[in-house]
Amino acid sequence: MGQQQKLRVGLVYGGKSGEHEVSLSTAFAVMGALDYEKYEIVPFYITKMGKWRVGELRSAPFHDKAELALESCAGRTVRAMEILFARLDGARGPAHEASCEVDVMFPLLHGTNGEDGTIQGLFEMANVPYVGAGVLASSVGMDKAVMKQVFAHAGLPQCKYVHFIRAGWEHNQADVIAQIENELGYPCFVKPANLGSSVGISKAGNYGELIQAIETALRYDRKIVVEEFVDAREVEVSVLGNDEAQASVPGEIVSSNDFYDYKAKYIDGKSQIVVPAPLDEELLDRLRDMAVQAYRAIDGSGLSRVDFFVRRSDMRIFINEVNTMPGFTPFSMYPLMWKETGIAYSKLLDRLIQLALERYAVKQQLNYESV
Ligand SMILES: Nc1ncnc2c1ncn2[C@@H]1O[C@H](COP(=O)(O)OP(=O)(O)O)[C@@H](O)[C@H]1O
Ligand SMILES: [Mg+2]
Repeated sequence: MGQQQKLRVGLVYGGKSGEHEVSLSTAFAVMGALDYEKYEIVPFYITKMGKWRVGELRSAPFHDKAELALESCAGRTVRAMEILFARLDGARGPAHEASCEVDVMFPLLHGTNGEDGTIQGLFEMANVPYVGAGVLASSVGMDKAVMKQVFAHAGLPQCKYVHFIRAGWEHNQADVIAQIENELGYPCFVKPANLGSSVGISKAGNYGELIQAIETALRYDRKIVVEEFVDAREVEVSVLGNDEAQASVPGEIVSSNDFYDYKAKYIDGKSQIVVPAPLDEELLDRLRDMAVQAYRAIDGSGLSRVDFFVRRSDMRIFINEVNTMPGFTPFSMYPLMWKETGIAYSKLLDRLIQLALERYAVKQQLNYESV
């Protein structure tokens, strides 16, 4: 690739989300690992208040993580959208050099507005290629109730669950409780349907705790999922690709806490990651197959991490969830599992960008005429 035509990657990070800081760490790592012979970058920072800031075109990473906040660019919200939508006016040419149009967007956001399909929809409207899952896979992967229905249809084994919305709870608490007690029993796991990072999730050991857990979860979402407790090992698989996705070597999470809650994930640093997961080959193969099956079921593209429970008593596999925007620092499970499989962090970035461009190209070839 010539000097004048490096691929311009828009890195989007921060966000109005509980995972803002995690996103900054990811952005700093990604920025540091990109190959600047091939790419130049335009940083897009979304503040905690949800405002977009855009930085200058760069051909080197920031030296200091603090620079990611783009302080000197505060208030340039409109310009961020102009850059994003510039492609609607035609392809980038030398004449547009100054306007910093991007060739591909690379969102490094987690949770609401990051991995739920909303920002993906913005990229679709702006006609810009973007890394990771599309709108549908993102939103299916975000909603635990819908995701479970899709898994069930694909014949993937999962733990027993009940789901309801706030109105159902308010009108008929007794029935909801009876259904949970009869079908799932105690302990059970209560989760808001649309959050990640274990926020709002509790384990309920009895009637009183269940009521409390539901009230807690309802503060975060109007839709709730309750699951039977599975005493299990937690094994994860990285999936990469578009229509011909590949699965990595599986890895195991050994949580420092009673369960893998927010604290265990991000704060105490004591949870252990073991890659490859110490399980027998046959089980590992089945996990990899199921991971790709789950990926197809949600119509995944780009990347996803697929999480499983392997029940201790009988080694039975249950799928837990698909994360379309998994933790992505070099020390996160997703890149570590690829590393073990033979794809290093910076190669993984190359591959993800390439997949984004491929998906975009395929979509451009579709017929948008009515006849
Ligand atoms: N049904 C369950 N049985 C046992 N542990 C569970 C169950 N559901 C969740 N957990 C524990 O809670 C953690 C977070 O739940 P999860 O559904 O993965 O939420 P998140 O989307 O926030 O990661 C899991 O990693 C696991 O440790
Ligand atoms: Mg999880």
